[in-house]
Amino acid sequence: MLINNDTILKDNDPFIREKSQPVPLPLSDEDRQILTDMYNYVKDSTDPEKAEKMNLRPAVGISAIQIGIPKQLTAVIVPTADAEGNESTVEFMLANPRIISSSVQPAYLEGGEGCLSVTEDHEGYVVRSARIKVQAYDALTDQNIVIRARGYLAIVLQHEIDHFSGILFYDRINKEEPFREVEGAMVI
Ligand code: CO
Repeated sequence: MLINNDTILKDNDPFIREKSQPVPLPLSDEDRQILTDMYNYVKDSTDPEKAEKMNLRPAVGISAIQIGIPKQLTAVIVPTADAEGNESTVEFMLANPRIISSSVQPAYLEGGEGCLSVTEDHEGYVVRSARIKVQAYDALTDQNIVIRARGYLAIVLQHEIDHFSGILFYDRINKEEPFREVEGAMVI
């Protein structure tokens, strides 16, 4: 399936608000292909040369509803660093990810969030949980997993899982006071 900035649904399309359904496991070939295509999009999008040539907007994640498929499938590739500061990535191709616990402590990205389906800027803090546990089937490693995510990864996973409910990041920005201070928040 061709995924690029022209084929990705934008928020002027009401379908982006549709609810996504869980997929049957074991994964069908079709669902695995959707995950693979989305994973390749995210991977290629961070290569400036490919992104330019293939009309890809850089992203750390994408969910199936964004390519018009209302299924609970998402691919994420998130940069991370270990305690020694060595950079790497955390990658998943998730089917039916579900948040099974969330920290009380909130978190937000200081620079706000973006989304492949949102072309206009929406400034403000998108307040989420600082730490979450996510249960899912991961098609990259072909196993059921529990992800203990904190910080940026936790934000990305919550953003993608929101897409399954038709929720976009700016729905979570305080309309009256977009930069209102959030007590005790982890600022990322
Ligand atoms: Co998004």
